Amino acid sequence: MALHGARLSPLMSNVYYPEYLQLDKILNAQALESEKHGRPAHDEMLFIVIHQAYELWFKQILHEVDSVSRLFADHHVDDNGGELNIAVHRLERVRTIIGVLVHQMDIMETMTPLDFLDFRDLLRPASGFQSMQFKVLEARLGLRMEKRHGRQYYTSQLKPEHKAQIEALEHMPTLLELVNAWLERMPFLDARYWPADEAPFFQRLEELYSSTLVQGEEGNAALWRKVFVEGDTERALSPKACRHALFIMLYRDEPIFQLPFRFLQVLLDIDEGLASWRSRHLNMVHRMIGLRVGTGGSTGKAYLRGAMESHYVFSEIADLSSFLFERRKLPPLPASLRKATGFALEA
Ligand code: HEM
Repeated sequence: MALHGARLSPLMSNVYYPEYLQLDKILNAQALESEKHGRPAHDEMLFIVIHQAYELWFKQILHEVDSVSRLFADHHVDDNGGELNIAVHRLERVRTIIGVLVHQMDIMETMTPLDFLDFRDLLRPASGFQSMQFKVLEARLGLRMEKRHGRQYYTSQLKPEHKAQIEALEHMPTLLELVNAWLERMPFLDARYWPADEAPFFQRLEELYSSTLVQGEEGNAALWRKVFVEGDTERALSPKACRHALFIMLYRDEPIFQLPFRFLQVLLDIDEGLASWRSRHLNMVHRMIGLRVGTGGSTGKAYLRGAMESHYVFSEIADLSSFLFERRKLPPLPASLRKATGFALEA
């Protein structure tokens, strides 16, 4: 910001860099426990700064995810007005930030286990496990309480007001639920667009898919029915939503589906990015504290491994790749649908 010396127009306020960024607060927010206890530990500064940097990025991620959820929450995503484009753009930013968060573990690993032991005992019971923003992010994306690994201690280390805040999120729609509703609203498979003298389109897809199954995949035919026809209360995505998601994935080269496809892709990127972060964090924790329990009261490495394996939010979308088959086998889209998709389609 190079405002000094410049003549200010009447509309311009005299913004001063350190004040604008409130650096007096941020740069004075590193209170080392080890210093308070009269045994300063050099690496505690790094430990605090890195957690604060993570929390700032979590804040930005939540800012983006919440804005995308709001776009979807009014039951109308205006594709022609660019709303889907905005959603994709913001979620791609989230993906990029998560990439930085994964690499930031490199800095944490410049601290050795012995350096950590210089102050670790002073931190109990504080832990990243009490990161409200991380918990809010998981919940806002779509991780419901009953699906959590280690539910018994998930909120046990939180102050009552934070616990209440997390529990209140259980009553709010998650991004995953909003995506399900958006997929359900898609009109592409409506009978009006498909020739009345042919078998229903999705039935034809099922036959095509079945014809691609090889030995050992006999069970996939039943899986198809469960995912696209019958549904299952355990699943987050309804059969109707899954039919449209598969349709987008199969016809993703069509201009109208390119953006919806990128949207589905970036959700998977975010899931994969968070899983990479969990994996880096887990490995770092293992070499830092071995098999000892966490300061947050969990089993430590075992908890983190369980969370890494079971906290994917959008895995039902990734599962749909099981039902893809070669482009050359795809039936061409009917003219009536092509014509309709050339214009505004309500979604
Ligand atoms: C010396 C470095 C670190 C150690 C030894 C460590 C250790 C742990 C352990 C053992 C847990 C499990 C919960 C518990 O405490 O019982 C945990 C959870 C967590 N930590 Fe760390 N951590 C470290 C650095 C970080 C950093 C830099 C972040 C960045 C924000 C972080 C964020 C988290 C989060 C978000 C959780 C909850 C994960 C979940 O519930 O899936 N940790 N950490």
